[in-house]
Amino acid sequence: MAVLDHHRVIAIDGPGAAGKSTVALQLAEHLGALLFDTGALYRAVTLASLRHGVSGADADGLARLIDRIRIEIHPASVADGRQIDVLLDGEDVTWAIRTPEIDALVSRVAAYPQVRDALLPVQREIADGKTAVLVGRDIGTVVIPEAGTKIYLDASTAERARRRLVELDSRGIASSYDVVLHDLQRRDAHDSERATSPLRAAPDAIVIDTDGRAIEDIVHEIETTVRSHWESEARGE
Ligand code: DC
Repeated sequence: MAVLDHHRVIAIDGPGAAGKSTVALQLAEHLGALLFDTGALYRAVTLASLRHGVSGADADGLARLIDRIRIEIHPASVADGRQIDVLLDGEDVTWAIRTPEIDALVSRVAAYPQVRDALLPVQREIADGKTAVLVGRDIGTVVIPEAGTKIYLDASTAERARRRLVELDSRGIASSYDVVLHDLQRRDAHDSERATSPLRAAPDAIVIDTDGRAIEDIVHEIETTVRSHWESEARGE
């Protein structure tokens, strides 16, 4: 594998609705960094599988599909609440990958080693040589274990369900606390119990519990850590 430069990557991992995207967006703005939400890749592959008629049970078929499609991540081009643009074969699918239908299917797709292997070089190359905030589940453990800063954001299931409900509501998607809670628990189990790259904090990650804490406060804590890493590096430490 080519030698890639990931020392300015900030890895942010953690379960769904722990506040990763909101924190990552503000952090990326403060640091002038690229924001790369890696969950968008798994979501785009899931959407592509529906469109191309590839079964969500066909792991090899999904891996072959990844070779045939083109997924691009760009800074947000429209002020409609999005954090990034996601393109699938040139089409803007930023919102099409965030429906309850994709929510329900994506963790199975993301659990296949074939799918994860196929998406690994894509993620490593996008982050190469960049100051980039990568958001996901296994960035600090598998995708970029050499990242300069690793953060694991956590929150209680109840708090995460409340946040997800507010987020869905703001997008006009009706749901209920119980449905959202059940879906989060199901996806947590899927993400943490899968054999390949399960969700867990890297041994050298800074674990932050976001329950009851203001976003600005968490962003400030991470930014201070990142800047101090950069300063030590500049001093050659
Ligand atoms: O963060 P999200 O809800 O957009 O993630 C969608 C799915 O993809 C979720 O089931 C976890 C999975 N995922 C993953 O396995 N590894 C990543 N680096 C990012 C997301």
